[in-house]
Amino acid sequence: MDKFIIQGGRRLRGDVAISGAKNATLPIMAACLLCEGESRILGVPEVTDVQHLSGLLGELGMEVARAADGLRLKVVDEQPCHARYDLVRKMRASVCVLGPLLAKRGRARVAMPGGCAIGSRPIDIHLRGLKALGAQLDLKEGDIVATAKRLRGAEVFLGGAFGSTVTGTANVVMAATLAAGKTVIEFAACEPEIEDLANFLNAMGAKITGAGSPRVTIEGVERLQATSHRVIPDRIEAGTFMVAAGITNGEVRLSQARLDHMLAVVDKLRQIGLIVERADGGAVVSSNRRISATDVTTQPYPGIPTDLQAQLMALLCSADGNSVITEKIYPDRFMHVAELGRMGANIRKEGPTAIVTGVKRLVGAPVMASDLRASAALVLAALAAEGETTVSRVYHIDRGYDRIEQKLARLGADIRRVSE
Ligand code: EPZ
Repeated sequence: MDKFIIQGGRRLRGDVAISGAKNATLPIMAACLLCEGESRILGVPEVTDVQHLSGLLGELGMEVARAADGLRLKVVDEQPCHARYDLVRKMRASVCVLGPLLAKRGRARVAMPGGCAIGSRPIDIHLRGLKALGAQLDLKEGDIVATAKRLRGAEVFLGGAFGSTVTGTANVVMAATLAAGKTVIEFAACEPEIEDLANFLNAMGAKITGAGSPRVTIEGVERLQATSHRVIPDRIEAGTFMVAAGITNGEVRLSQARLDHMLAVVDKLRQIGLIVERADGGAVVSSNRRISATDVTTQPYPGIPTDLQAQLMALLCSADGNSVITEKIYPDRFMHVAELGRMGANIRKEGPTAIVTGVKRLVGAPVMASDLRASAALVLAALAAEGETTVSRVYHIDRGYDRIEQKLARLGADIRRVSE
């Protein structure tokens, strides 16, 4: 198992290229179960979640090959339809194969994902949506067993207690592309990753309108034909590097970053004193003073993403004053709080809220990563801390960041990956 050793206190400077979005790539890979022929997905990040899904798709009769700058994907056998618990429990996004398998093969057996470090993550809304399209659903030995001769279009409401669902919307949109008739989804997730998925499906011959808005309409078609598609840049990776510039009082130029996908984040960073300037195909982010405290509330897109909550908390640990962070999507998503506390942060947690009292400087310490975004927050805190920090279990960060330590080192960070 690898860990990072980081000497803090260096100002980051230079250019970083943002990779393709993990959360766009995963549903797009699953969507290749729907079509005939070989698809090419470009700009695929080198992250372990992609490798993991490639393994699962391989078990479902798909050939997945790494090619220059991306993946080639082709279904060669439509018999297998079981997504085993052993694979699904390691990565929840595996549930995105449910809709495509059901729509294309008329049957699917997908393990229920189970528990997650960031909190309870049921899939009841996914199932509700697929049932509305006429799927027969049963639970057998912890697996969802789904059948449908042919799905049929319907009106589907995808709202839940915490807003809409991103992968739930993806599952229902993918299933509806091959259903008989028209589907109208109300309260669909509006994330850019959903829009990217819809663009890919439309390029394969689907008829989807309204993606990116709460109402999505899908006219079912008979078949989809493979195509080539470049995934959108990763707005969460971009946000993480913006925080890296701010937390080290540095100056970083991000290329291949879509600012129009992260206006709420940019607005918040400017509010607290970072300088974020648009630049060709990206942005230049710098900071030349102590940042101010603020309140942050996570929301569905276009609000502040929950996937940047931990990183923003790390930044606010050394802000001037008290910040209040409210987690509205995963109320228990605070595994990073205790670890930041080991680095001298002053954070009080009360239910889904954390009150962060800014300290002059964090100090280096051995800390433990618990999930993908929490581990990014610990790396960011370590960049600003006095002395040395060791971040263990970095396999969490490799799930969603493409060689982050190499990118940070090129910006001047003193960071090394060592195996434990
Ligand atoms: C996606 O997860 C992302 N993952 C997550 O990113 C992200 O945190 C999340 O959306 C929210 O933005 C991928 O895209 C692969 P949801 P997803 O269904 O689709 C509740 C990362 O770090 N809910 O939109 O699983 C749920 O519990 C990952 O890259 C139900 O109650 O999230 C949560 O509170 C972590 N029933 C809220 O809705 C359901 O059936 C939003 O979840 C589905 C969800």
